Amino acid sequence: MNPAQQAKEIYRDKYSTISRYVDILSTKGIDWGLIGPRERDRLWDRHVLNSAALADLIPEGAHVVDVGSGAGLPGIPLAVLRPDLDITLLEPLLRRHAFLTETVDDLGLEGRVHPLRGRAEDCDKTFDVVTCRAVANVTKLLRWCTPLFYPHGRLIALKGSSVDQELADASRLLESSRLEASVFQVRAHPLAEVTQALVLEPLR
Ligand SMILES: C[S@@+](CC[C@H](N)C(=O)[O-])C[C@H]1O[C@@H](n2cnc3c(N)ncnc32)[C@H](O)[C@@H]1O
Repeated sequence: MNPAQQAKEIYRDKYSTISRYVDILSTKGIDWGLIGPRERDRLWDRHVLNSAALADLIPEGAHVVDVGSGAGLPGIPLAVLRPDLDITLLEPLLRRHAFLTETVDDLGLEGRVHPLRGRAEDCDKTFDVVTCRAVANVTKLLRWCTPLFYPHGRLIALKGSSVDQELADASRLLESSRLEASVFQVRAHPLAEVTQALVLEPLR
């Protein structure tokens, strides 16, 4: 079963919306330089399914901020899959913010998905969940994002094989921030590639 078919199984009646998003990424996303042209054949697995793999870690009805959302990843695939979520797409760059605004309107998500232009460290709102992918190492994420979710929420970051080293480098900061880290192996579909999710939560 190919990744688009896997997505069809998990998105069900929302498949046409996520399919439209993939179309936008493969056209305007590439034209505007937000997605590399070599990604065109890997949009379903590397972007949609990889993002959707975080869904089970997000509580029902959560207010989420996707920090450094870029072209909307992982925020938009999560928003389409989970109509219960309210998601802010935080992105400092003008062009990317414009892309997010147009894309959210195109997909009809504007009631509960909010593009916001800015940097994480300048944002004064708080959320139940912070998501991020490919934005910064754990030390920087802690500095920028802890105020966005502390003391009641959690940060969920898609991370590659560097996560153990990043956690070791950030160990003192983690301790002084009174946060604990857990790493989960997750996937959106039983046949999808496994991906790593780092969860940072306040110590109880
Ligand atoms: C490599 S891109 C990743 C985009 C997207 N998350 C993805 O996985 O495709 C990193 C993004 O983080 C944004 N960014 C960089 N520093 C940031 C900060 N301090 N606060 C919020 N976003 C930031 C950049 O503008 C860029 O869009």
